[in-house]
Amino acid sequence: MSTQQPQRPPRSPISRRAAAFDSSGIRKAFDLAARLEDPINLAIGQPDFEMPEAARTAAQEAIDAGKHGYTPTQGIPQLRERLEHEVRRETGQPGRTLCVTSGSSGALVLTLMALVDPGDEVILFEPAFVMYRPLVEFLGGRAVAIDTSPSFRIDVDRVAAAITPATKAILLNTPANPTGFVADAATVRDLAALAERHGVTLISDELYRSYCYDAPFASPALHSDRVVVIDGFSKSHAMTGWRVGWVHGPKEIVDACTMLQQYTFVCAPHVGQWAAVAAFDAPMDVPLAECRRKRDRLMAGLRGHYEFVQPGGAFYLYPQAPGGSGKAFAARAAEEEKLIVVPGSVFGAADTHFRIAYTVTDRTLDRGIAALCRLAATAG
Ligand SMILES: Cc1ncc(COP(=O)(O)O)c(C=O)c1O
Repeated sequence: MSTQQPQRPPRSPISRRAAAFDSSGIRKAFDLAARLEDPINLAIGQPDFEMPEAARTAAQEAIDAGKHGYTPTQGIPQLRERLEHEVRRETGQPGRTLCVTSGSSGALVLTLMALVDPGDEVILFEPAFVMYRPLVEFLGGRAVAIDTSPSFRIDVDRVAAAITPATKAILLNTPANPTGFVADAATVRDLAALAERHGVTLISDELYRSYCYDAPFASPALHSDRVVVIDGFSKSHAMTGWRVGWVHGPKEIVDACTMLQQYTFVCAPHVGQWAAVAAFDAPMDVPLAECRRKRDRLMAGLRGHYEFVQPGGAFYLYPQAPGGSGKAFAARAAEEEKLIVVPGSVFGAADTHFRIAYTVTDRTLDRGIAALCRLAATAG
């Protein structure tokens, strides 16, 4: 008798969903930086200032007080009520419902899970934050990209033309990662009206709203109670590792997010939520002014050497790549100058630009500027 097992057809343990994606291009830039000695790393999209002291103290107190268990799904009341109060004051919409999430990434996952069925279309603006397209596609949705290069302006007529019966949502991000572009008040108002007219949900990712340098932040939620807003403490309070964000919007949608959180993230980290309560009142004007100063220093250093649109917010500059390819330029920058930047190919179909994150020390920024000027001078 043969002891041979029947042959199974070779089958990957990895789902087709996971296999369809590659590791994020930003991760690849980090890996490259880790292999270089003393690199000039302008690839990291996070603040370089300290999380507020009051938030650190609150986190330590929460640990000492044994706040290690689960929290209510929608967040501890002390944080949720604080955020709700602020949202209602700002929007004047008492019906808005809010759920505290595991970072704004958690809010994005839950919102898209709540809205997108297989075959649904989600309009997004490229260059776009790296998570948007994969998240839509994980859910079987179709990402319909509108390329905003090279001005990064949102043309509401083009958005109207992209809406079909399958359109479920429009995903807006202002101030934007990776361009730093800030949509003006008229554009966000028109987008909110367009979405409402077509019964499409406008999702507004406002994670960088505290970083607006040239004009006050404009939220589409002020114009429509149907807009879903995504926000968090990661960038505003240098709390990227604490994973505290939130989503607010129409009750029906946010209730669905809360229900989905029960089956996925369970709740945002408990200690992080206490830190966030304290962070809420911390004055952030000094670090934000520093960020603006660095933006201006970088722009002054690169003017005449690179083509770029002045970024009105966030902490990124998105210049055109000398030679035309962001990928080729990023590779050359690493090889010739140990300079790490993120190629435009990571953020969408157009590989014409590259991203610089300027949340670094002045010394690193100045080294980066000098390296970039040399690279521009020797571009073929
Ligand atoms: C536009 C945008 N949205 C959302 C996120 C996710 O941030 P977090 O999950 O830390 O709140 C990021 C992070 O870089 C981002 O740039």
